[in-house]
Amino acid sequence: MTARLLALGAILAGGLVAADAPTGPRPTTGLHNLRYLTARVLSGSSPDGADGFASLKRLGVRTLVSVDGATPEVELAARCGLRYVHLPVGYDGIPPAQLARIAKALRDLPGPIYLHCHHGKHRGPAAATSALVCLGELSPDDAVRAMRDAGTDPRYAGLLGLPHTLRPLSAGDLDRVPSDFPAQAPTADLTQRMVQIDATWERLKARPDAAAALQLQEHYREARRLTEVARRGVAFTARLAEAEAAAGRLGASPTPREVTASQKLCVQCHAKFRD
Ligand code: HEC
Repeated sequence: MTARLLALGAILAGGLVAADAPTGPRPTTGLHNLRYLTARVLSGSSPDGADGFASLKRLGVRTLVSVDGATPEVELAARCGLRYVHLPVGYDGIPPAQLARIAKALRDLPGPIYLHCHHGKHRGPAAATSALVCLGELSPDDAVRAMRDAGTDPRYAGLLGLPHTLRPLSAGDLDRVPSDFPAQAPTADLTQRMVQIDATWERLKARPDAAAALQLQEHYREARRLTEVARRGVAFTARLAEAEAAAGRLGASPTPREVTASQKLCVQCHAKFRD
């Protein structure tokens, strides 16, 4: 184990240490599922506001790579002197060109580098470990092990299966990959709407109320109006309409149980059309 990993152990134990030293914030406040994949590359959740970025700064991080669909909080990062790069990926695998860009970012941008998705369990660990396989810094077996450790769900077969389809890229291959790393990449309208659906959903789960249920219903209605949704066909549109109706049925005082039960509509649609 490297000195850096030992140091990380100490950092993660910071929650306990903090009990003896109540001054100052915990070193990892605002970050979840944080882990070092190599001495230079960490993965984890989207930083929770200013606290999360301040924690990254304290950890010495210099560059953030987001593979999430949400628009990165570039301003908050910049206030901590952190550069953001946005290279979003889906749940069904990562196209070779996008993976090569992520690998090049990890190779060339100032480290340590924090690569994140939303929760830090699925797309982030998959993208980071797969890019490290492309760089020859992890074996496919180690990459899959690291994903499982991070909590990547076995239902994302396209993510867990990815490392074994890869081999290291040559320095020349990587040199030819474009290095215009955007701070905010354009994302599809449906992706953006799903990011909002997810945020509303999190609110609803934390505190079920009529306003959030209504908002969820409205997001689904807006989603149905998108041209890309029409292109996906009637089966997809019908599922969106079903989810919209279910959100409507949550009504004025949804119970936590009803909210949780309606989650199966998210999971079922994702299983069929996304993952
Ligand atoms: C009718 C189908 C359908 C339903 C219902 C649905 N989704 Fe989605 N969702 C999708 C599809 C398709 C995508 C991928 C869109 C893309 O980026 O191409 C997606 C993407 C997402 C993403 C990824 C966004 C990103 O960062 O790229 C999240 C998060 C998400 N959905 C959350 C939810 C939640 C939470 C619910 C339920 C409250 C839900 N979705 C209900 C079809 C659905």
